Amino acid sequence: MTSLEFAPERVEPMPAEQREELLRMPGFGSLYSDHMVTARWSAARGWHDARTGPLAAFTLHPATMAFHYGQTIFEGLKAFWRADGRRVLFRPRDHAARFARSARRMAMPELAEADFVAAAEALLRVDGDWVPGARGHSFYLRPFMIAAETHLSNRPAEEYLFAVIGSPARPAAAEPAPIRLWASPEYVRAAGGGTGTIKCGGNYGGSYVAQREAAEHGCHQVVWLDARERRYVEEVGGSNLFFVEGDRLVTPPLSGTLLAGITRDSILRLAGRLGLSVAEEPVALDDWARGCREGRITETFACGTARAVTPVGHAVTPDGEWAVGDGTTGPVTRRLLNALLDVQYGQAPDEFGWLHAV
Ligand code: COI
Repeated sequence: MTSLEFAPERVEPMPAEQREELLRMPGFGSLYSDHMVTARWSAARGWHDARTGPLAAFTLHPATMAFHYGQTIFEGLKAFWRADGRRVLFRPRDHAARFARSARRMAMPELAEADFVAAAEALLRVDGDWVPGARGHSFYLRPFMIAAETHLSNRPAEEYLFAVIGSPARPAAAEPAPIRLWASPEYVRAAGGGTGTIKCGGNYGGSYVAQREAAEHGCHQVVWLDARERRYVEEVGGSNLFFVEGDRLVTPPLSGTLLAGITRDSILRLAGRLGLSVAEEPVALDDWARGCREGRITETFACGTARAVTPVGHAVTPDGEWAVGDGTTGPVTRRLLNALLDVQYGQAPDEFGWLHAV
């Protein structure tokens, strides 16, 4: 049951012509819609002050706890125009459930699933004109929560701010180009018992030094190895990873350090439709290299909400590098990307009930 009402306050929308021009320019994360949704939580009042208002800067005291102790979590989910003219959110309840898991792990208050979904719906209702129409383009919603109490004590905050903003995502090309990955021998993303399974800001901020190292080695992203043995491949940047071995699709298991990606789960389910068998099993870095060299592993791809499916063309380690297949996008990667887009854009049956019409 929804307990919060994100009552809309109308703002003067950007003139349609100007908006349409911006929506034609490729980009991710740099363009924002007219409104934002907010709600506050305090130990005394629980969730309150829900509203949909103009997108605006927050005024925060320098002692706001989020600045100091890192209680920040976020989600990323997408909305699409379906071929039948309706706007849909993709798997919002699954994002709500993960947001609640992130909140629990970070000792933050949980937002009820219905309230999370209502917040996303509220933004989409007022800013629906910001959803780009082209296949592959989408409206990326960014729900997040920060510790908003003003205090310097090292403890969970007693006040929080939740907000959802929206950003049209317009990829430059219909199909993403293959990326080169750097296997960092030094840095790890997550260890058992840590925060690897959730979406907290620190997981991302802590990865940039390795991302920079990847760039120094001519790579686009980092492939993370397990913290214990530095042997098994876990994730890529902020995305999950899949390997194609004949008609088998393999992905590392959710062993307690990986993010349970919603795109990862969607790919696992769609694979069966394409006649692929799926396995969630550990993949060692040297097995990946050998598999590619022997022609057993023909494709590798990363997946996440923001970029959907991204082919991996090459992997680089301090000991050498290898190509995945011929370094270009493979047929299975392309079929899986298209199968996902077909469902998201209403061009294939939504047999798993992933689309939430608004
Ligand atoms: C995702 O693709 O799921 C992400 O979280 C990407 C975001 C960090 C930009």
